[in-house]
Amino acid sequence: MKKKANNSLNPRRDITMHRYNLIESILFPPTHIIKNKLRNSLKGKTILITGASSGIGEQVAYLLGDTNSHLILVARREDKLQQIKHDIEKKSTASVSVIRADLRNKEDLETLLNFLHQLPDGLDIVISNAGHSIQRPILHSLDRFHDVTRTMNINFFAPVQLLLSVIPLLHKKQGQIINVSTINALLIPFPFWAAYQASKSAFDTWFRSAAPELNAIGITTTTIYLPLVKTPMSLPTAAYQHAPAMSAQHAAKLIGKAILLKKRNIRPWWLINGQLGSILFRGLYEKLMPKIIKKRGKSH
Ligand SMILES: NC(=O)c1ccc[n+]([C@@H]2O[C@H](COP(=O)([O-])OP(=O)(O)OC[C@H]3O[C@@H](n4cnc5c(N)ncnc54)[C@H](OP(=O)(O)O)[C@@H]3O)[C@@H](O)[C@H]2O)c1
Repeated sequence: MKKKANNSLNPRRDITMHRYNLIESILFPPTHIIKNKLRNSLKGKTILITGASSGIGEQVAYLLGDTNSHLILVARREDKLQQIKHDIEKKSTASVSVIRADLRNKEDLETLLNFLHQLPDGLDIVISNAGHSIQRPILHSLDRFHDVTRTMNINFFAPVQLLLSVIPLLHKKQGQIINVSTINALLIPFPFWAAYQASKSAFDTWFRSAAPELNAIGITTTTIYLPLVKTPMSLPTAAYQHAPAMSAQHAAKLIGKAILLKKRNIRPWWLINGQLGSILFRGLYEKLMPKIIKKRGKSH
């Protein structure tokens, strides 16, 4: 059974058009969004998407670009953001602002925050999606402390600093924050991904801790726990080439659904089994994993 996600605004035919095999169809059942409902819900809304220049963020931009909203697209590659703005504005009534920013850079972040605080119509939704992953064995990381700082800077400090600044704006509009997280934040942490997983888990914990306080003042909080998604982020990892993966368009639809349903979290139906396994088999896992790593010689 072959399934193909579709998005009328998206002119590109690249890895985001990933076709599902049978296993992927079972693991990632289709997500349906009633386009008119999304259009009605987002009419006149202002939406910030960080990391909109590729992968999931790009697909979210195309999905939400099909509504009468104001999208603010943020990333470092301005040419890519301008192309997405062009594609969207050519075909829809959405307006798109492009802000080139390295979110780890103090001045760039300040420029973005100034822009957000001067928006005449305020800010309704923040999709905190920008991220960077690093896969590297610990023994190859001994002189690479900067891997830890750079992943923490983009995956933890940047979204925290951004949100602390815009919470008053979201409070005013009774808005929503969506955290694009990973299922790994809820499972036994995998070896070789220490810096990435620590940074994603740090933000997941910060956000979950802040959520009740934000909910109490009328801000909706949603965490989307994504499995492996076929994007430029996951592409370089050889071990993932044949692993079941969600398409970036599908992930974008989950974000669209989160906007409509305002659920606290969205996660794959099977994740609960992984969470149970993470508790029940932790001892066994910790005993076996070093042997597997030693056998594969990956720690050298
Ligand atoms: N792919 C997966 O398997 C997977 C699974 C679970 C969760 N996620 C999460 O999904 C989110 C999106 O990832 P993706 O898979 O779509 O990867 P991607 O295609 O590599 O996209 C990452 C986005 O983040 C932006 N970004 C990275 N560093 C930045 C910086 N310093 N300042 C501003 N923007 C920056 C990139 O834009 P520029 O390079 O133009 O700056 C790009 O738009 C990430 O938070 C990731 O952790 C991914």
